[in-house]
Amino acid sequence: MRKPIIAGNWKMNKTPEEAKALVTALLPLVKDASCDVVVCTPAVDLAAVAPLLSGTNVKLGAQNVHWKESGAYTGELSADMLKACGVQYVIIGHSERRQYFGETDATVNLRTLAAVKAGLTPIVCVGEKREEREAGYTDALVAYQTQIALAGLTAEQVKDVVIAYEPVWAIGTGLTATDEQANETIGVIRKAVRDVYGDAADAVRIQYGGSMNPKNCKGLMAQSEIDGGLIGGASLKAEDFAQVVHFDR
Ligand code: PGA
Repeated sequence: MRKPIIAGNWKMNKTPEEAKALVTALLPLVKDASCDVVVCTPAVDLAAVAPLLSGTNVKLGAQNVHWKESGAYTGELSADMLKACGVQYVIIGHSERRQYFGETDATVNLRTLAAVKAGLTPIVCVGEKREEREAGYTDALVAYQTQIALAGLTAEQVKDVVIAYEPVWAIGTGLTATDEQANETIGVIRKAVRDVYGDAADAVRIQYGGSMNPKNCKGLMAQSEIDGGLIGGASLKAEDFAQVVHFDR
């Protein structure tokens, strides 16, 4: 009953010209996808890519959003600015932003509230570091990250949020959580949503992210709790990303 969603996270890759070329190659390969398809490009590529995506089944996403509507916040972008560029989704709280740019659970929450208020669909990232998994903190940590990120939303609003479970040790490393590990932790995340928002949890789409690729996507997507993928490295090649989009073939 939850429609799968496969999103590409291009991170800090592709100039506007390169972005247009990648999208042009991708569109025909995924035009008959049975899942929702999103590409989250660097901010400078949004305006270049938006006209190419208009009227297609591929939606545009950004990689961050500020919580204020405007003002003296050098380097930041507001939800309304993103919307004006044709953006519909926005990644929030990616582990790289938490690790390198001082993102905290509190700022993840502010950004999530601002995105929802503006009508953007947040893709809220949660996940544990390797030492946290080894110490046995994974479940408590992802539950806490999830509940704080969503605090202040209504159950109705929570239904439309996308959550990405990305174990930090699996991102860009070639290490993937096993299908069962990913499914189990995503179940923990869904329970954390249920504990606060009740049955709205059944509508929330929860992706797996971390070295997901054409080879391992089928096994991951076959798990009952996994509703999609947030794809980094493999989203930079049209053929690879299209194969993940067609995980059901
Ligand atoms: P990866 O990145 O697929 O390259 O591991 C995923 C992500 O960070 O969203």
